[in-house]
This record gives sequence, structure tokens and C-alpha cells, in this order.
Amino acid sequence: MALKTDFAVSDNYNYLEGLGNYHQSEAFPGANSHVNNSPQKPPYGLKTERISGTSFTAPREQNLQTWMYRATPSLFHSEYVPYDDAHTPNPPTFLSPNSYMWPTFPTESGVDWVSSQKLLARNGDPAGKEGLAIWTFSITNAMRDNTAFSSIDGDCLIIPQSGGLDIQTEFGKLLVRQNEICVIPRGIRYRVALPNGPAHGFICELFQSHFQLPGLGIVGSTGLANQRDFQIPVAFFDGQLREDVAVANDTEWTLISRQAARLWTCTQDHTPFDVAAWHGTNYPFKYDLAKFCVLGNVLFDEHDPCLYTVLTAPAHREPGNAVVDFAIIPPRWMASEDTLWLPYYHRNTMNEFYAPIVNNQDGDYPFNQDRGKGFKPFGAGLNGGMVVHGATAEDLEKASTSDTSTPAKVMMDGITIFLLETEKPLYISDWAAEMAQQNFKAKEARPKSDSRL
Ligand SMILES: [Fe+2]
Repeated sequence: MALKTDFAVSDNYNYLEGLGNYHQSEAFPGANSHVNNSPQKPPYGLKTERISGTSFTAPREQNLQTWMYRATPSLFHSEYVPYDDAHTPNPPTFLSPNSYMWPTFPTESGVDWVSSQKLLARNGDPAGKEGLAIWTFSITNAMRDNTAFSSIDGDCLIIPQSGGLDIQTEFGKLLVRQNEICVIPRGIRYRVALPNGPAHGFICELFQSHFQLPGLGIVGSTGLANQRDFQIPVAFFDGQLREDVAVANDTEWTLISRQAARLWTCTQDHTPFDVAAWHGTNYPFKYDLAKFCVLGNVLFDEHDPCLYTVLTAPAHREPGNAVVDFAIIPPRWMASEDTLWLPYYHRNTMNEFYAPIVNNQDGDYPFNQDRGKGFKPFGAGLNGGMVVHGATAEDLEKASTSDTSTPAKVMMDGITIFLLETEKPLYISDWAAEMAQQNFKAKEARPKSDSRL
């Protein structure tokens, strides 16, 4: 098996490489301002604009700031007005010590990136800059022409479960296919189209902190997700140079922004994708999950799932606490002695949200686009804090008696499981509570005094 995904759709965009580096990119030679960040007259008639992902005084290693050089400052737009409150979920209030499962999320047709997003669970408060939200998306249409979206609530980790996304951002373009993930920082405008049919997946919207690589400690200097495997878009200017002036393809654009889970909209008479050059540390990035360097046991015991952490968002509340850890359980070799090849039964202080990703890229594979007759991989589960979880009695019996004396490659069924481990209890949205099924039915578990019954 190749150490990268053999994607069904090839990616013809160019990228910079290395997460955490100070990057710079320009659509035209000389478009970046060199030495001085805010020159009196930037090249090609461009205007200087900055986007700050952290406070100016954040420690240098955590400081996220990017300078942009664009044709028209973002300042010039109409007043923001509420967009469509039908897409604004009620603040989630449902919480119980039960496990939840969503075997299959419904899919619709005629929906795009904005209209398809549904709030699944949330902790903290977006306006209080604390916690996170988990959204689902299931889209069949590109966003409307000349429309861009942004989240003012936080950085968004986008996890396609099936299908792919063609994402144009202010900093350039990214193709993000199943078995890849991407992060779009807070406030950055982007537009989502579809490279090859419908796409489903999940979004982890981070109200506090930022996604970063976990520390490796005694592991050493490499392993898990390696810095160089993260790809950052290159500047793309929606326009052209005319007599040394950058002229954008300006027309009427609609901007839609989410703040405190509510959608707002405004218009402007210029493209938001008129950034001819940028440099800094605050940028979108993507990553192929097949490049994850899995570490694990080579003698005995099942190690903690934090060993599979791709990205983390530290809480800075107490040592080791995370707003969220994003981890994957991918195909890998198992080799051990006198060890149960199953996760131990567990009550965790963290809250564990999990869902499958289809890593098999074959368009005829039954799990792609939910064509299978039985298991539909567009589902998820949640084990809240101190909620016990683990293998079924049947799996336990099988694992207790199986031959583990020879190494075996596991998770070869075309599925990678991802985990979002978050420090605070996840409140379930009304929509998600209605759909929780099997013996974990949230609706039935609601107290009778709950007015939403
Ligand atoms: Fe667990």
C-alpha cells in the first residue's frame, strides 16, 4: 500500500509545504512587498490588509498573522443583515450520560455548502470564545456563483467523509478529497464547489485556540503527522495585470458569515479573491491522512488513542488539556504478545465523538456515496465523559481467542475512523437528538419536563 492516497481525482493546484512555517506567495512576480510590510505604495497598485489569528502579543511560536496585498480592501461592502434564520440552530441544551449513535445522516439534493450544514453538537460558547461545534455537511451543488462564506466563530477543520471539495480561498485554491482534511482559519473567505459529485462530511469549528501539531515528547522529532506533508495554497488572483496594475475581475459578490451560529450577509462590488500576494503564519492548509506515520505497540498492550493524534487545539487550562484532539484510526500493522487486540473498556474524562471516513477511492466501492445496501458510512457516534464504552461481547470473545502471534494488517475494509476528543461535555442539537437511534435514543431519554418533547 502506497504511503499516500491514490486519489480518484487528481489535484492540479500548486501548494507550499510545511505547517507552522512562515510562508509567502505571490500570483505575479514582485507582488509581495519585501522588507516593509505596509509600504506607502504596494506593487501593482495593491492595497495592504492584515488578518490576525491571534492577539499581536501572542508568543512568537503561537503568533498567527498574515499580510495580504489585494486590489480592493475588504472594507468596502454593504451593511451585514441576517441571512436566513432557518439555518440558525437553537443553542443545544440536551445532555445525558448515554452514548449516542447516528447510523445514517439524511442526505438532500439541491443543497450547497451554506444550506446543507447542520449543527450536531456543541460545547462552550462561540461568543465567549470557548469550546467548539461539530457540523455535518452533505452537498450536491456548488455554492452559488459570486458567493463566499466565512466563519467568524472559529477555525474550521473540514473532514470529507465521502467525495471531495474544491475550495477557493482568499489565499488560493485547495482540492480536499476523502481521506484528506483541511483547516480554514477564522474569518477567511472561501467558496466551495464540487470536483466530482456529491460530498458528505463533518466540520469541527473551534471557538478557542487553533489547530496545531501535537508535541512529540519522548517519541522524538518525527512521527505522527509530519510538518512537511501539510500543503498550503499559493496566491491566486482573480484578475490580471494591465500595464503594471493588478485589475481584478470585479462584479457583485455576496458574502455570508457565521457569527454565534447565526448567518449574516452583505454584498460588495468586488471579488473577495483579489489577493495577489500574501505572507505570514495564518493560512489554510490541507493534509493527506494516508501520510500519517502511525506509531504503536510492538510487544504488548493497546496504547492510548492519543498516539493517533493528527492535530490538537490546546486549552491552556491545565497541562495536557485540549479543546479538541483530532485523531484517526487508520489501516496499520498490529503485532503484540498476550494482548487483547481491542480498545479497553473505558470511561474517559474527555468526550469522544467518532465517525468513519471512506479511504477507498474506487468510485464503484459500495461505501462511496452511500451506495452500499447495508452499512452506510455517513454516520457517527458519541461517548460522553465518564460514559463507558468498548467492544461487544461477541467481539471480546473473538479477540480473546484469536491468534495474535503473527503481525496482521488491520482496518483494511476501506474505512478510517476519526475521533474528536474534547474536554467539555458536548450538548446535542435538537436535530441530532431527533435522529439518535437504537438503544441510545436521545429523544426518549429526555426528561418529561423538557418542553421540546
Ligand atoms: Fe475511549
